[in-house]
Amino acid sequence: MPDLVRELESLAEGARRAIGAAADERALEDLRVRYLGKKGEVSAVLRGMGQLAPEERPRVGDVANRVRDEVEALLATARERLASERLERELRGPPIDVTLPGRRLVPAGHRHPVTRATEEIVGIFARLGYEVASGPEIELDWYNFEALNIPKDHPARDMQDTFYVDEATLGPGAGEGSILLRTHTSPIQIRAMKRAGAPPVRVVAPGRVYRSDYDQTHSPMFHQVEGFCVGERITFADLKGTLAAFARAFFGASTRTRFRPSYFPFVEPGAEMDIGCVFCRPSDGSRTSCRVCKGTGWLEILGCGMVHPEVLEHCDIDPERWTGFAFGMGVERVAMLRYGIPDIRLLFENDPRFLAQF
Ligand code: DAH
Repeated sequence: MPDLVRELESLAEGARRAIGAAADERALEDLRVRYLGKKGEVSAVLRGMGQLAPEERPRVGDVANRVRDEVEALLATARERLASERLERELRGPPIDVTLPGRRLVPAGHRHPVTRATEEIVGIFARLGYEVASGPEIELDWYNFEALNIPKDHPARDMQDTFYVDEATLGPGAGEGSILLRTHTSPIQIRAMKRAGAPPVRVVAPGRVYRSDYDQTHSPMFHQVEGFCVGERITFADLKGTLAAFARAFFGASTRTRFRPSYFPFVEPGAEMDIGCVFCRPSDGSRTSCRVCKGTGWLEILGCGMVHPEVLEHCDIDPERWTGFAFGMGVERVAMLRYGIPDIRLLFENDPRFLAQF
């Protein structure tokens, strides 16, 4: 009768030595297979159990289980030992140089020129102490028109070719023409002033707006930045100083500005601000043929004015005590002037040959 207990004992002895000497994880894995695998040594011994007397079998089975448990524990301890040795080696070895430049696997991308221009505009006003706000692109008629002094029959509505939301999709409760894609970011004035509760407020609000036009300088979706500042003793001089500072920060320190009277229902007085043409010069004759400023030397970049008292009243702000100015500009327009882009559609075609130039 084979002495399986002795075989198991000497197998265990061999395993202790071999596992203690294993140099790496691979050697350990080989030892696991050699001792505990299906075709391993422990299994081979157990296969001899058939030759034993039935009463011998439980004892040999116990020893076999003990040996298997011991080998498993030895393997686990050895794995931990190897792991901590490896860590020790790494800690003692040369340090990782975290100052080395990263290796690029794909060429770095960059932001879209409209995003860049928006961030720059907002950044300039943030440095002037303005907060950044946003509002919904699907807007109530009341915020987009009514609260901004543009009632139902006002001709200023016709100047904005508005996308209305189909009533049938809205369900009960929505009045006809009551919901639309906002035509400008000016409704954020109303929302932000109501939210603030009381002046002073200084806010810039970037966002997408929608109008039904499409040509070289108009796209049905475009971006605006609205801004406004309401407080005590805010005057037209504050408006001019702020917007001139913006123009110099965005277009360059020598940028000239001028203000022309204009009409927007939500301001009084209202104005448009022009900057000196960035494409031509009066001295070298390029002005007469300049197609961008049409020879005038000036480019219109935004609308602005002193917030109309009725607009303040719509926001529960007392116009006898508080005054303010507001302005709104098209991001595509200033980006086109700043980067010299001739056609607005280039900004939306996403041709990589165009985008890679920024
Ligand atoms: N909302 C105007 C537009 O979309 C732009 C504008 C003009 C905004 C004058 C203003 C403003 O805040 O005072 O054309």
